[in-house]
Amino acid sequence: MEPVHTNNVLLSCLEKNVTKQASAPAPAPSLSVDLGGLAQRLEDAFLAVRDETERRAAPLSPEDQQIQSMPDASPTKWHRAHTTWFWEQFVLGEHCAGYWPFHPDFAFLFNSYYVSAGPRHSRNHRGDITRPSADQVGAYRKHVDAAVVKFFRDAGEDKLREIAPLVEVGLNHEQQHQELMFTDILHAFAQNPIPPAYDPDWRFPAATPASEDWLTLNEGIHTVGHVDDSFHFDNEKPAHRALVGPVKLARNLVTNREWLAFMRDGGYRTATLWLMDGFAAVNNEGWDCPGHWREIDGQWHVMTLAGLKPVDPDAPVCHVSYYEADAFARWAGKHLPTEMEWEVAARSGQLNDAFGIVWQWTRSSYSPYPGYRAIEGALGEYNGKFMVNQLVLRGSSLATPEGHSRITYRNFFYPHHRWQFTGLRLADYE
Ligand SMILES: [Fe+2]
Repeated sequence: MEPVHTNNVLLSCLEKNVTKQASAPAPAPSLSVDLGGLAQRLEDAFLAVRDETERRAAPLSPEDQQIQSMPDASPTKWHRAHTTWFWEQFVLGEHCAGYWPFHPDFAFLFNSYYVSAGPRHSRNHRGDITRPSADQVGAYRKHVDAAVVKFFRDAGEDKLREIAPLVEVGLNHEQQHQELMFTDILHAFAQNPIPPAYDPDWRFPAATPASEDWLTLNEGIHTVGHVDDSFHFDNEKPAHRALVGPVKLARNLVTNREWLAFMRDGGYRTATLWLMDGFAAVNNEGWDCPGHWREIDGQWHVMTLAGLKPVDPDAPVCHVSYYEADAFARWAGKHLPTEMEWEVAARSGQLNDAFGIVWQWTRSSYSPYPGYRAIEGALGEYNGKFMVNQLVLRGSSLATPEGHSRITYRNFFYPHHRWQFTGLRLADYE
């Protein structure tokens, strides 16, 4: 998916340094106003995000950038082009008088799901498009980068203030695709019998050592959702009150060691542990382990960005679907938390590894908060139209770009999806 979206995004948020670490939910250091005017701050933030996209693509060959290993995943080349189209369509096209699109066909090729922005190529066939080449997409990016920078420099303060919230959406949109670039190429590499490494020196982030610690939340009414005007997507508002607790949340993420015990105990073969749709997925997909795992000579390995590695028992389990997380929780005699429980617990600062390793499944349906309305116009399609049949994940993952994490962030995927960096933490009510 290419989730999320916009409303009430404020100028002040552009002062965030978007190039810093992904693991912390707190805003990254602000750029001082003294360092330059609004145009300079916009330009710096824009170029930092655009550079990060290219940095992530750099180790990949044109052949790597072409592949679409399943309909849910997109080619790296497509991500690079689509994020560029987003700037061209929503910023230059709507606000920069005299801008002429780089190529008349690119809007059709690289619009993702914006019905309001016109017809588009089939998502399932993005990998069929060999041209434009990766190099031509690079030229497209350079063209749009130069046009956006020139626009920032020439537009004037009033215009910049008007479009600053839109720019911030563009930055956050591109960061979302940066995460997808990692998850999608990892899925592609995981299909290769000779497993390639995206980066041989990459390491899975270290997790807090395992413990049996639980965080107790007493019954209480809490405000959940985004309360101020710092950057957020529209699905994080309106903030509202919710009854939470009594509940206990595991301080730590579920580990591979625990998952291996579930497997050894016949977890994947025990129908009574599973939702009906989940057990159908197990049988239809032949699941007997998390995604990207391979058993070699009796030892489990997992495909990572550094290639195929032995499963580390102490690392958090990754690449599990909601169906699997739900079955595991039932096997463990526990539950998955709601997104409200997760948010209140995370706000206390007492959850280990809430950010930066794996997104954590909650048992909350991805639904609108009370009173939610999508914004007017094409960008109203960013989040609202996906609010059915998906589950909310909280936190962030090892692939989430620096400066893109928030306690109120609501990620969402379908319950069978497991190619993202997804794991879980347990809840208990006893
Ligand atoms: Fe997108």
